[in-house]
Amino acid sequence: MSINDQEHLQLFIRHLTTAATNAALYHLEHLQVLRLCRKALEQVKILHTSHNSLVLKIIEGRLIFANKPASHSLATERLHEALQLHNISHLRIEPGVYSEELLALVSIISKRPDQKAELIDSEHIHFGQVEVRFRKKNQVSQAALLGLAEIAATEKDQILEIYDGVRDKQQLKVSGINDIVNGFISAFGSHSDSFLAIAPLRSMDEYTYTHSTNICLLNLAQARQLGIEGPLLNEIGIAAMLHDVGKMFIDPKILGKSDKLSEEEWRIMQQHPRTGAEYLLNTPGVPRLAVVTAFEHHMRYDGTGYPKTSRPWPQNLSSYMTAISDTYDAMRTHRSYEESLEPEQISEIMLGLAGSKLHPQLTGSFLQVLNNLDRGAQQSV
Ligand SMILES: [Fe+2]
Ligand SMILES: [Fe+2]
Repeated sequence: MSINDQEHLQLFIRHLTTAATNAALYHLEHLQVLRLCRKALEQVKILHTSHNSLVLKIIEGRLIFANKPASHSLATERLHEALQLHNISHLRIEPGVYSEELLALVSIISKRPDQKAELIDSEHIHFGQVEVRFRKKNQVSQAALLGLAEIAATEKDQILEIYDGVRDKQQLKVSGINDIVNGFISAFGSHSDSFLAIAPLRSMDEYTYTHSTNICLLNLAQARQLGIEGPLLNEIGIAAMLHDVGKMFIDPKILGKSDKLSEEEWRIMQQHPRTGAEYLLNTPGVPRLAVVTAFEHHMRYDGTGYPKTSRPWPQNLSSYMTAISDTYDAMRTHRSYEESLEPEQISEIMLGLAGSKLHPQLTGSFLQVLNNLDRGAQQSV
């Protein structure tokens, strides 16, 4: 198998498994699923130019294509696990396969261990099965986590597109953000806190993406800890995704500056809560909570911070939560102008800020979420 084939195979598997993760989080007809299916099909067509049919087999616990093991990646691991889960020993895809047939394959891969998938051969896709065997329990959560890491990577493009639209003064696509937040919320529902674990682990260079999704996941975790559910939980997620939207109006040179900001640059930087709130206020479909959160998220619990207001300003719960998540994310994520800190150091610093910069009870509740997460991670090792 040539290096080129290996690359096309990897792309095919990646599109296929990411489509399956999206299908599990949203639904099979979601635009993102259909788009990824088409991309997978493109790769299959390329592979068919040098292989009569595309046969993937599981031999001695490895995924084999054209008599060679497929290179190791999160995607091949996920496909391997999914095939094993449904007792599929080999998969043959013939030339002429339709996008709809791949979609049926995606549907099978997207099934959870407790959901039965019906394996029916189609005109160009054929399955070979092995005897039923029981899976180890911990393999399931590992697969779920891998899938979630992949979806985070896919949504990166969508979020960057939304933010780029803001920068180019286009209309904000609130529905896209709503989809993403709903996906996060249902992922929370099915995988509990393991989903939160990926928040600080992602090390994308696109700061806006990483930061927005981190704050969204952290705020959703805080809200769930307080027992918040339903439409309010959804609004809290959207508000978190958009809290820094005002930064899109700041010169990227200032935003990405690694040295200390000058007084003038700092003044410009401090305008982002106000410009963000004004922008959101004039955008149809944005929840009021997002406007308020964008405006208040740099105000401190003790009344200092910015923007300055002429009278005492009672802040919203979502703003307090955003300030807490923001403080945590700034310390946890490696930024160009400071090194990231260890979790124990972060907890200590945050406790020190409780009651001055941060809301004291909410900070306590947030640290509790992190503790639970830590304990969960230790138990699953
Ligand atoms: Fe901010
Ligand atoms: Fe922020």
